[in-house]
Amino acid sequence: MLFGSSMAFHIIFATLTVGITLMILLAEIMRLVKKDDDYALLAKRWTKGAAVLLGVAIPSGTIVAVMLSLLWPHFMEIVGEVIALPFQIEIFAFFLEALFLSIYVYAADRLGPVTRLIAVFFVAFGASASAILITNAHAWMNTPRGFDLVDGQVVNVDPLAAIKAPSFLVTANHVVGTAFMTGAFVLVAVAAYRLLNTHITERETSYHRKGLFLSLIVAFIMSSYTALSGHETAVMLYEELPIKLAASEGLFNTTDNAALTIFGTPSIEAEGVIGGIEIPGMLSWIATGSTDGVIQGLNEFPQDEWPPLFIHTLFNVMVAIGFTLLGLSGIGLLIWFVRRKQEGIIYPKWLLAAFVACGPLAVIGIETGWIYSCTGRQPWTIYGIQRTADAATNSGNLGILFFLFSVLYIFLLVLTALVMYFYFKRNPVSDEFHSSGEQLNS
Ligand code: HEM
Repeated sequence: MLFGSSMAFHIIFATLTVGITLMILLAEIMRLVKKDDDYALLAKRWTKGAAVLLGVAIPSGTIVAVMLSLLWPHFMEIVGEVIALPFQIEIFAFFLEALFLSIYVYAADRLGPVTRLIAVFFVAFGASASAILITNAHAWMNTPRGFDLVDGQVVNVDPLAAIKAPSFLVTANHVVGTAFMTGAFVLVAVAAYRLLNTHITERETSYHRKGLFLSLIVAFIMSSYTALSGHETAVMLYEELPIKLAASEGLFNTTDNAALTIFGTPSIEAEGVIGGIEIPGMLSWIATGSTDGVIQGLNEFPQDEWPPLFIHTLFNVMVAIGFTLLGLSGIGLLIWFVRRKQEGIIYPKWLLAAFVACGPLAVIGIETGWIYSCTGRQPWTIYGIQRTADAATNSGNLGILFFLFSVLYIFLLVLTALVMYFYFKRNPVSDEFHSSGEQLNS
């Protein structure tokens, strides 16, 4: 719980940093293409937000790194010998991101447009590379390769085989795609929130419209990509982790024409999902491309290796959020296309309110996805090799630490939100319009 809460906290900031740095890069590109300084202003203000997020992501990431060694000593012994490489390269990716962010923030008005673009490209590249490298270790935990464990000793180490764990590429795809999607939806939410303000001026409306449209396009593309990469991930589960797929769907008995069961509660007694909506053949079709495809059920595996069955609900929540966000961004783009020539605010208030909800929803999607993936690997830390009980420290008295860290994380979450809120309230975009032309054009 202590480590889980630290990860749950860190992941919000790490994910948003990846997503928002991409948006800053795209705003800089738009500025060059459209020769419109509003995009430079968007990039500038998004950078302020990203800097605050990065300021929380770095110390919370350090806490996670320290906890890994302290709470999971036996796991880290294996990690240190087999899959240390991505962690080491990640340090360079982080340096790249931090170095170019400093250049971009502090020297932006002395750089030419192309040099600015190069600087911000390396910021976004460094952030995404960090995410991919850490995902490498996560994917290896799900589908470990590159070593043998003989009498508790790590032998036959092959670091390249470990890096090339079969779930790596597909998982990295899903993780980076969902981070881009989440960053875009959070900016959709910010722009929609501003457009809901009844005292907004025409000039501000025009500025926020640009921010909303750019974020909506990315949000829609990345939601579509998430649905595709999510499908690829489910196929990977079928091939590499059939027990996780079976638990995700509450499937107990091996069968062809396996149904996809939406919501409901898996029941061991009933050997099925109670109260779910079944789409016959759909699970077989998703996993194998044919309704004749045979899907292994939980009964194929020893019961003490089953993941907790509530992962069915987590999986459903994640997928439901994915399709809700895809639908909302699709509707947003459709309305844009039809009404794009109209002046002012082209969206009804209910849709703007729904856009505001998209930001938190995407973050909940990320949290649900990670909890689902890591809980779905239980009772293993390294799947099939090291059980969680054997990976953890034997130290007691962790309850009090869990309590203290939980209080700290809640405090930091509220503080970060307040810092952002008051910073942007005291420095409204209207104050920057008059100066944006001179400053940003230089
Ligand atoms: C649209 C339909 C979606 C499908 C079919 C899908 C499918 C999956 C599957 C099968 C996994 C488990 C991978 C594993 O344990 O190895 C997973 C994990 C994950 N998902 Fe999704 N997902 C979808 C939407 C989303 C959305 C909307 C988000 C976030 C906004 C999200 C974020 C995550 C995250 C962070 C993980 C953990 C990383 C990983 O192991 O891949 N997913 N997803």
